[in-house]
Amino acid sequence: MKVLVIGSGGREHALVWKIARSPLVGKIYCAPGNAGTSEGAENIDIEPTNIEGLAEFASKNSITLTVVGPEMPLTLGIVNEFEKRGLRIFGPSKEAAEIEGSKVFAKYMMKKYGMPTARYESFNSPDEAKEYIEKGSRGISIPLVIKADGLAAGKGVVICQTKEEAVKTIDSIMVEKRFGSAGDKIIIEEYLKGEEASFMAFSDGETIIPLASAQDHKQIYDGDIGPNTGGMGAYSPAPIITEKVEKDIIDTIMKPLLIGMKKEGRSYKGILYAGLMIAEGKSFVLEFNCRLGDPETQPVLARMKSDIVPIMMAAVEGKLKGKEIQWRDEASVCVVMAAKGYPDAYEKGKEIRGLEDAKKMAHLIVFHAGTSILIPPHPPLIKGGMGGFKILTSGGRVLGVTAIGADIKTAIDTAYKGVNLISWDGAYYRKDIGKKALR
Ligand code: AMP
Ligand code: GLY
Repeated sequence: MKVLVIGSGGREHALVWKIARSPLVGKIYCAPGNAGTSEGAENIDIEPTNIEGLAEFASKNSITLTVVGPEMPLTLGIVNEFEKRGLRIFGPSKEAAEIEGSKVFAKYMMKKYGMPTARYESFNSPDEAKEYIEKGSRGISIPLVIKADGLAAGKGVVICQTKEEAVKTIDSIMVEKRFGSAGDKIIIEEYLKGEEASFMAFSDGETIIPLASAQDHKQIYDGDIGPNTGGMGAYSPAPIITEKVEKDIIDTIMKPLLIGMKKEGRSYKGILYAGLMIAEGKSFVLEFNCRLGDPETQPVLARMKSDIVPIMMAAVEGKLKGKEIQWRDEASVCVVMAAKGYPDAYEKGKEIRGLEDAKKMAHLIVFHAGTSILIPPHPPLIKGGMGGFKILTSGGRVLGVTAIGADIKTAIDTAYKGVNLISWDGAYYRKDIGKKALR
């Protein structure tokens, strides 16, 4: 069968890598992909938001299954369009993807269906939001968290330590429109303490099957300091998600959400991702995402023993009941290498060195994110792969150097050995990925 993967990040390279291991799959396309995906898939030059273009491609090329990586096409309704045309696609409908697309809707669902989460209020008007903070009414106190309603590439959340900062943040989101129309509405919620973890599951609308647990490192600097990023590294499993904690997450968060979405006429198929704050064994929802996490997918798929393709097909067809996923007992760690300047404006077009050496290492996979191939004017006659071509940086997060090891410590050591082989002018990475799991 033929599979089309949509997206161009590390998550999508990991998906291509995993799907390529399925004996059911003969050909993979990736739209638009990166230098890494071009090894397992044929990259095609269609943007993830060009839904019409993607549907036409899938139709013309008899694609058996389309897998959507990022949230944007999902919230734009790619699944609705494909289904209208009778094309098989893995992901939630536009209505279901609103669980990530609108934080106001997500909080409404959490409240209505009784999921544990931070107390909150939503606002359409900056004046009312400011008044709420000034008066400290209804029990909100400092620190507090302000969230833009819509998609803001993971940057629409601000933790405010003072009232003045909160007022400034409201102005910058709602008046100056720092995140565009994503800031037409905001959420103000109570600040939760604890340890964060990511919990992802396959869903067919009725049944959920959890993926291996993972933990992300959101901040740019070591010791979880500095601005939030898309994620600077991840590891799996997450020691904080014990069997007991997992059962609690499924019973108090995942199942109520699944039932709630069905009741609201937004039956949920695809990946359901809960961003959690865990304190004393109790999990609280920070956010829901309608897709796999990036970089969590890289270490999680590195540990997945089962073929992912039949699971995705079963999720699309409502047949997940009774399916099981086997995981490797080993641990996996992914260290993200980023461009200088990320998560703000960053440099592009730097030549990456050492990829071939890293490839020779055992227990290591280098997933590409923001990379592109520089094709020389007279390309050498090398078929397939990237041999002979230069690989350049083209995004903020550039590579996800991912290792498998007997335990987290071994996986950390292997991942950093890999990182040390790779370089470009201005490469930046955190030195403490996975340390949290060793405590
Ligand atoms: P979100 O996009 O909602 O997951 O928020 C991004 C990040 O902001 C999270 O990963 C947390 O680190 C932090 N955050 C969000 N909401 C809260 C909260 N209520 N209390 C503490 N930290 C939060
Ligand atoms: N790594 C966090 C996310 O994918 O949202």
